[in-house]
Amino acid sequence: MYEFYPLLTVGAVVGVISVIFILAYFSIKDRKEAIGFDRNMKDSEIIKRLMQYAKPHAKSFILVMIIMLFSIAYDIISPTLIGNVEEMIKGDFEYKSLISYVIVYALILAVSLVSTYVQAIMLQKIGQKILSAIREDLFSHIESLSHAQLHTMPVGKLVTRVTNDTNAISMMFTNILVNLLKNVFIIVGVIGAMLLLNYGLTLMVLCFAPFIALFTVIFRKFSRKAYREVKDGTTDINTFLSENLSGMKIIQIFNREDRKMEEFEGKNTKLKSAKFRQMFVFGIFRPLVYMLYISSVLCLLYLGARGYINDTVFLGQKITGGVVVAFYMYISKFFNPIQNLAEQFNWLQSAFASAEKIFTVFDIKPDVVDEDNAIELTDVRGDIEFRNVWFAYNEGDWVLKDVSFKVKAGQTVAFCGSTGSGKTTILSLICRNYDIQRGEILIDGINIRKYTISSLRRHFGQMLQDVFLFSGTIRSNILLRKEDVSDEEVLKACRYVNADKLLDKLPSGLDEEVMERGANFSAGQRQLISFARTIVHKPEIMILDEATANIDTETEVLIQDSLEKLMNIGTLLIVAHRLSTIRRADNIIYLSHGEIKEQGTHNELLEKKGRYYELYKLQQDKAQLV
Ligand SMILES: Nc1ncnc2c1ncn2[C@@H]1O[C@H](COP(=O)(O)OP(=O)(O)OP(=O)(O)O)[C@@H](O)[C@H]1O
Ligand SMILES: [Mg+2]
Repeated sequence: MYEFYPLLTVGAVVGVISVIFILAYFSIKDRKEAIGFDRNMKDSEIIKRLMQYAKPHAKSFILVMIIMLFSIAYDIISPTLIGNVEEMIKGDFEYKSLISYVIVYALILAVSLVSTYVQAIMLQKIGQKILSAIREDLFSHIESLSHAQLHTMPVGKLVTRVTNDTNAISMMFTNILVNLLKNVFIIVGVIGAMLLLNYGLTLMVLCFAPFIALFTVIFRKFSRKAYREVKDGTTDINTFLSENLSGMKIIQIFNREDRKMEEFEGKNTKLKSAKFRQMFVFGIFRPLVYMLYISSVLCLLYLGARGYINDTVFLGQKITGGVVVAFYMYISKFFNPIQNLAEQFNWLQSAFASAEKIFTVFDIKPDVVDEDNAIELTDVRGDIEFRNVWFAYNEGDWVLKDVSFKVKAGQTVAFCGSTGSGKTTILSLICRNYDIQRGEILIDGINIRKYTISSLRRHFGQMLQDVFLFSGTIRSNILLRKEDVSDEEVLKACRYVNADKLLDKLPSGLDEEVMERGANFSAGQRQLISFARTIVHKPEIMILDEATANIDTETEVLIQDSLEKLMNIGTLLIVAHRLSTIRRADNIIYLSHGEIKEQGTHNELLEKKGRYYELYKLQQDKAQLV
């Protein structure tokens, strides 16, 4: 009886700890709010969709699997080899056979290392390819979404989708999946090798497997929760940062730094404690598995030594010193992959969560799409008609009410009216940034829904209220995607719209660097650059939303002059604030609360003595004051 004390003690300790953990397991619920993200897709569906990205690399994956078999050879063969060396040293020691063992050992090690290396490189390459494919698809999908859909998604969230989440997926292909397989192979291989050596000792090692399984299940529950908290915290911080970095100027102007800092500290602390919790969970799990490992080593030493001394023969297998040594090594090779498996399963789960988040973005159907038999809009005259157009950004909240007007090709139409009356909205409807709810918008007599969106937009030059410049150079901002334009033509366009004076002042001219959002240029300068951009793209219809921002008189004169030139090239729809611009228009449309109140030429409207007349008088008085 005394002889079993060591075994019993080990068993009891493991048992007590298991009980504590089982209790803890049931006392903590994986609350949905705590997760912050409900998984709706089935794992099988996610796998199916992910496989589509892996498919093109199927051959490489198979090759990687084959190479992997070589890379695990060391784990499976080396313990037996060492066991044999032990036997040889104890028995008839021969220097020659020792050398041959060492050579074999070194060879296996070398093969293992080389194949691990090759495998890693191959996987990284495949992973990066898959990653960039997903990222591209995702970005182009986001590009296809309508303005209304984009407004509902915080930029920070989308950034996390395109960067972190795609990264998690690539990790899954490069690291997790392969390591999962590798670990399974190693476990199977090690069990096989142990069985060949000694059934009895293998059984002893396997006795520990249920405990490992138990710990793993519990660990997974805790770590999943911790992991999700870390992820949500990261998304939260990204969203906060992207919004507040863009609005930093406002924060500083309004002295809101402290408040924002507090908010940031809150989010930061939340992420920090989530990370701590995650580390804590891992910090408990690893020593636990290690404890199991040590316990099994103790059992091995005890049982192995007894078996060796007593010369026990079990089903024809004898325990030798070599067997004990080999087992000592196998046990660690057995526990390692199990611990890895448990941890990798979590990575896999989190990669699935990321995949699901990405697929949910993919599943958002663009709500402004080409109709089934949409035609290409090739040649445009430039006639535009709004026929009883009703539009609301939010259902029922009409922003445009029964708006009708006609623009003949080559004409200039000016929209005026108070702020919020719907001027910008009208402009954004013509190129289908939004779809209207009632009525029709026609270009050259055909409903714009009958054209493909890309061909429709090709014929528009949009110069918006708040000109957006991308980081890059002036040249890249003028050309955008158009590449077959010489510098000569770009400069010509700049001269035409008076942007050349601006260029002359810049040390690097067209190559002058543009900071994010064009922060190093004034509103007026940005407007001039956007004029040049339009001229280079030679659109038939131009849309211009005059900047409301104050522009210095010098630039003002330049803009005025270029505006007149723009009026001569094609159809121009312009939201104008300056009377001088409006006066030259062929038709003036006065809007109020989404309805057309008056329309006609400058003189016609003045004679009418209506709202436009009042606006005109007001502006004239202002001009006199100045
Ligand atoms: N993306 C949006 N979502 C919901 N409502 C919007 C959106 N954009 C504009 N609106 C609303 O639609 C109305 C018309 O806005 P619009 O931008 O067309 O005005 P505007 O005439 O161009 O004004 P301003 O002269 O100030 O530029 C406003 O009441 C505004 O609140
Ligand atoms: Mg506007």
